[in-house]
Amino acid sequence: MSKVYEIREPISKEMEVFEEKFSKLMLSKVPLLNRITHYIIKRKGKQMRPMLIFLCSKLLSNGKVNDKVYRGASVIELIHTATLIHDDVVDESNKRRGFFSINAIWKNKIAVLVGDFLLSKGMLLCIDNKDYDILDVISESVKQMSEGELLQIEKTKKLNIDEKTYFEIIQKKTASLISSCCKIAAISVTTNSNQIEKISKLGMYIGIAFQIKDDLFDYGKSRIGKPRGIDIKQKKLTLPLIYTLNNVEKKERKWIVNSLKKRNKSRTLINQIISLVKERGGLNYAIETMNKYHQLSLKELEDFQDSRYKDSLISMINYVIQRKY
Ligand code: IPE
Ligand code: IPE
Ligand code: MG
Ligand code: MG
Repeated sequence: MSKVYEIREPISKEMEVFEEKFSKLMLSKVPLLNRITHYIIKRKGKQMRPMLIFLCSKLLSNGKVNDKVYRGASVIELIHTATLIHDDVVDESNKRRGFFSINAIWKNKIAVLVGDFLLSKGMLLCIDNKDYDILDVISESVKQMSEGELLQIEKTKKLNIDEKTYFEIIQKKTASLISSCCKIAAISVTTNSNQIEKISKLGMYIGIAFQIKDDLFDYGKSRIGKPRGIDIKQKKLTLPLIYTLNNVEKKERKWIVNSLKKRNKSRTLINQIISLVKERGGLNYAIETMNKYHQLSLKELEDFQDSRYKDSLISMINYVIQRKY
């Protein structure tokens, strides 16, 4: 079992410095904004993305990081935080990181604007430092994330999502940003296009496994700091359900579709859907698929030179699929 302190060990110093820089970036002269960003900083997440940036850059530079790597980490975490705040508005979710979400406390209007504030802070950090290459990577990723979320909404309305579309959605809404972490780490320390391409691909695989794992949480029982069963409640079709819908008899399929369409689903109904998905192998199928991407990421990493950063990256890749929240 991979532990977070194992992953963090060779980058603990950088993460400490990063946290300080990151909280300073969130400051504003508007008191309401300051109260909210203070609330956000106190409830930080797993910080997987900045960790990935420091590990990948150290892997490629024999342990040396520069200011640009720090800025890359801040930009990514700013954008990530902004998209989580917006995502909770879109998903009408009232919990995040074990506490009330921003929209739950301050309502949608304010949540949307705080998300915009953080997003622009990220962009400005790039511009102020002339990090146009980072800005390029990040803008492409933000575009893809919005497309991914919109594609998901469109498909959710019609309930007609197949596996191919699911992968398109998760690549765009999640894996693109994780891949950008690796790419930004690389372009900040090397010009070797082979390595940049390889490490971006690694990030894409990690990102896909990461979102499948996130989607699996919806079916679990563990406390993950955000609502469970919410995807089913909102008709969001993820891999376990997509597999099940495509592999059951017509009658059962009809029952699932009708249940999903019900406006007010009781907890009992959601549990019945979860049980059926489990019985019909949907959960196992999603786990197997996640494991496939886990293996692909490990394979992609093989060609890089051995080091403690590489060991730590292996731990991170394992953590992505073993994590409890
Ligand atoms: C949550 O990301 C959003 C997804 C892409 C599934 P994380 O699980 O990395 O969120 P935090 O930052 O640790 O809360
Ligand atoms: C997250 O998808 C994608 C983002 C880009 C934020 P989810 O809607 O599954 O993320 P959680 O479960 O709310 O964190
Ligand atoms: Mg959500
Ligand atoms: Mg989710």
